[in-house]
Amino acid sequence: MWTPPERIRHALPETRWPSEEEARGSRWFSPVRIGPLELRHRTWVPAMVPWRATEDGHVTDDVLAWYERFARGKPGAIVVEATGVRDVPSGPLLRIGHDRFMPGLKRLVETVRRASDGDTRLFIQIIDFLSVRRRPPKERYFSRFIQVSDAHRDRMAEVLGEEGWLSASETAVRERLVDCDDGDLDRILDSREVQDLRYGARESVGDVHLEHIRELPRVLPGVFAAAAERARSSGFDGVELHYAHAYTMASFLSRRNRRDDGYGGPRENRVRLPLEVFRAVRERVGDAYVVGSRILGEEVIDGGSELEDAIYFSEVFARAGMDYISVSKGGKFEDAKQPNVGWAVYPYTGRSGYECMPTVYSDSRGPFGRNVPLAAAIKRAVNEAGSSAPIVTAGGIGTFELAEGILERGEADIVAAARASLADPDWFLKTFLGLGDEVRRCEFTNYCEALDQKHKKVTCKLWDRIGVERGERRLVAPEWGGGSPSPGELRSPSSPPKGRG
Ligand SMILES: Cc1cc2nc3c(=O)[nH]c(=O)nc-3n(C[C@H](O)[C@H](O)[C@H](O)COP(=O)(O)O)c2cc1C
Ligand code: SF4
Repeated sequence: MWTPPERIRHALPETRWPSEEEARGSRWFSPVRIGPLELRHRTWVPAMVPWRATEDGHVTDDVLAWYERFARGKPGAIVVEATGVRDVPSGPLLRIGHDRFMPGLKRLVETVRRASDGDTRLFIQIIDFLSVRRRPPKERYFSRFIQVSDAHRDRMAEVLGEEGWLSASETAVRERLVDCDDGDLDRILDSREVQDLRYGARESVGDVHLEHIRELPRVLPGVFAAAAERARSSGFDGVELHYAHAYTMASFLSRRNRRDDGYGGPRENRVRLPLEVFRAVRERVGDAYVVGSRILGEEVIDGGSELEDAIYFSEVFARAGMDYISVSKGGKFEDAKQPNVGWAVYPYTGRSGYECMPTVYSDSRGPFGRNVPLAAAIKRAVNEAGSSAPIVTAGGIGTFELAEGILERGEADIVAAARASLADPDWFLKTFLGLGDEVRRCEFTNYCEALDQKHKKVTCKLWDRIGVERGERRLVAPEWGGGSPSPGELRSPSSPPKGRG
């Protein structure tokens, strides 16, 4: 992952945990209304993909064990990981694009209800994404993928200083390109071809020459609405529309979206499809069902959307009746590191990725609560526009003091913690019971994120190893105060996963 050049190592902040009485009287452990329902507490586990679904997107016992563990810590809400809305192969990512996924999803809902004694509300994040191919070997790219044209012949003649290329056969052109060095290729290929060669071909919402991309505005509202309906029928308390990070809907919202069909360019056009998706979902599930979204407070890429865009989008969504807005930051493909040959580009490796999941190796601001100002500005604007839709903040939050301060200052309505909850899913409950000293504190060094990057089963470096001979780390967090692992924990990791899509 990219690290700020200053690379200042920040120690975990000293903190004072509240007594049980203080916790009970605190804002973080007070109720909050989200549209038609109430959360018992303002504590929240945001979406995290743990790579535990089957290869065809079904809930597994490992998925159940994962969420059961979070539910026992009784957060106000858990958002289930990004779950694909379409019925297309996506590797071990959860899917909700067909009714056949519902029995597994129902079991997931029942598991969380039981484990939290009904105290935790369960939302599911629903996502659409475009195709991302692995970086090809150079030989394969030139022998199979590139479409050879006269423009290539012209540039080869010029760059290589050999007129003969103007009339060369396609085979000769392909063979010669394999032998070109990077400098020559930069001048012979167009920028998209250079990108496809060095990073792997990645579709973008601007590829309107492709029918399925051109048709996204016609297709997606219905697909999201059907997925939301399945979520409701499966028993989830609400859906979270994934409008953040590197995926389709965030790409429509992006300042880099230049579509000229009324869905790109000025921000009024960029928000159009996300709004149409929301309306289609709302129409399908009705007003008595929670529909929220996750958006980016800032994209953190050159030419990308900034806070003022996010404020505008949030006001539009709140006016349209969205029940909550969860604010994230960055996590884009555009500045991601070049993957090795055979790997797909991963959107959390560049600066925007750092801003999404900041580590303790930081700049002078450090990682703790780093993204709160974005949520605060959005909350101010949404409230001033007359909406009380709760705003959720996340990013480097791992102490009660920080969370409580954010709420006290009115910077957000709900405080979420992903990695801190991964490190210790009981941390909300421990804090609530005045036992904060027992919290296993996240170190924010992103061992978990490195596993996610390789699409390996996500675990935490603070969890001990089980399976002595093989030195495997357990698959769910250790029990509070010890205790024997559940059967799901003892299963060995499965075969290497496929790309996220
Ligand atoms: C392993 C892992 C998987 C994640 N998967 C998702 C996801 O599916 N959807 C999403 O919106 N954010 C995802 N995130 C981002 C988190 O929800 C969160 O925004 C980020 O980690 C910053 O919060 P934190 O500092 O509390 O961890 C993921 C984070 C991690 C560590
Ligand atoms: S591996 Fe564990 S300690 Fe490290 S950042 Fe992830 S959750 Fe925190």
